[in-house]
Amino acid sequence: TLRLAVLASGRGSNLQAILDAIASGALDASIVGLWSDRRDAFALERARAAGVPAHVVRPRDHADRAAHDAALFGSIDATGADLIVCAGYMRLIGASAVAARPGRMINIHPSLLPLFKGLHTHQQALDAGVTEHGASVHVVTADLDAGPVLAQARVPVLPGDDADTLAARVLEREHPLLVQTLHTIATGRLVPGAEMARLDGAPLAAPLQL
Ligand code: GAR
Repeated sequence: TLRLAVLASGRGSNLQAILDAIASGALDASIVGLWSDRRDAFALERARAAGVPAHVVRPRDHADRAAHDAALFGSIDATGADLIVCAGYMRLIGASAVAARPGRMINIHPSLLPLFKGLHTHQQALDAGVTEHGASVHVVTADLDAGPVLAQARVPVLPGDDADTLAARVLEREHPLLVQTLHTIATGRLVPGAEMARLDGAPLAAPLQL
């Protein structure tokens, strides 16, 4: 059983998708804790409702990023988590914290990476005039939204879309995308750490299309 540590900053609908998949038996995993950088994150409520320990580790309670990372990852590591899942975690993680856990952190990002890194991805897609958009699950590396892409889901951009309608269409696909990717990892068919190694010269595997 894959032991997951989940990080979330807000609504937590991706966390809920993981919880639901575990509860239904679709995903052989357990969530050892939910960590948030915000006390008002609804993700905390969702975790508590499911009996998952909910932790708040706020940047403002620490002197700098290194101290915040040390507190956050110290708490996570104490649980013996196999994989750290950033599910709507809206904060940069320091390079040394990432480097200390090579291939053990993944992130879901609302764009077809390498397009539209960072924030406001749906508006970025509209501004660029693309006809296709979506979401990616990738390995977290020191560079923002730039680690190897493990899986993607695609949606059309439709006439009349605004950032909200597009975000809703993408979000609906994010939930199965994240769950399916975790299932593929839990069943040993995908090893995020092995995909990391490919960065050293070998061509990247084509991401799963989900
Ligand atoms: C999701 O769309 C996720 O892809 C995005 O935030 C949303 C969180 O929703 N993540 C990022 O933008 C990461 N930079 P949720 O809290 O309902 O899961």
